[in-house]
Amino acid sequence: MDIDLLKRTAIGAAYKSGKAIKARLGNINIRKKGAIDLVTEADTESEKIIVDTILSRFPDHSILAEESGLNSGDHDAGNQDDKWVIDPLDGTTNFAHQLNFFAVSIAYVQKGRPIVGVVLSPETGELFTATKGKGAELNGREIKVSKSEDISESLLVTGFPYNLKNIVKPLMKRFESCLTASRGIRRLGSAALDLCYVACGRFDGFWEQNLKSWDTAAGELIAREAGATITDFSNNPFLIDKDEILATNGHIHSQMISLLELK
Ligand code: IPD
Ligand code: CA
Ligand code: CA
Repeated sequence: MDIDLLKRTAIGAAYKSGKAIKARLGNINIRKKGAIDLVTEADTESEKIIVDTILSRFPDHSILAEESGLNSGDHDAGNQDDKWVIDPLDGTTNFAHQLNFFAVSIAYVQKGRPIVGVVLSPETGELFTATKGKGAELNGREIKVSKSEDISESLLVTGFPYNLKNIVKPLMKRFESCLTASRGIRRLGSAALDLCYVACGRFDGFWEQNLKSWDTAAGELIAREAGATITDFSNNPFLIDKDEILATNGHIHSQMISLLELK
């Protein structure tokens, strides 16, 4: 497999869809998938652009994309070993409210392991990329996680899932533990960018639960390649279909694991 071609294809698709998303900012129809889970025409248009771009180059690959669902549609027939995991617009709630923190996330995954990851922030022009074993980059420059060694000097980021009402108690308990131990917590609204921000050292740690593989596939590879440690809340290895993710600079990982533990 030509990894470079895979990466170039993902980058090309991300820029093309990012342009389409930007063109719709401020002029959108919002539909509800759930009480607080939104979808806009930008999500569906972006997904079509990305899927068409990938399948025109790799017609036998399979696609897992948020808006067409898990292994649904015509793309399921493709080769399951060569899979693209796509979030066409990560941060839809921000987008719907004209906040510029949203992203396009595209990963090429082999047997459940991300090999290429691309996350584009269309509004800021920041493009995060990684290839397994080759490091991570922001707009072509190598990035690394932060050096912070103490949780009290760490800035953390988290997110809240759409079904938060079912888990609000443990979620708030963990939030309280991390808030009182750290320098601060941000909730920015795009898990893909949260992971990329850990990758480039802006945040020292990120945790969230109930994410889907399209939220994390590209970002986790980018963070890992930049030196991040990524596990679930019990320090077991993270896989993209797991529903807990903790990504840190490594130094504060064990402190974060203790904080996330429900005593
Ligand atoms: C959401 C964002 C958000 C996270 C949610 C995700 P979407 O994705 O990544 O930061 O907290 O859990 O579902 O719906 O905007 O693609
Ligand atoms: Ca998402
Ligand atoms: Ca999305």
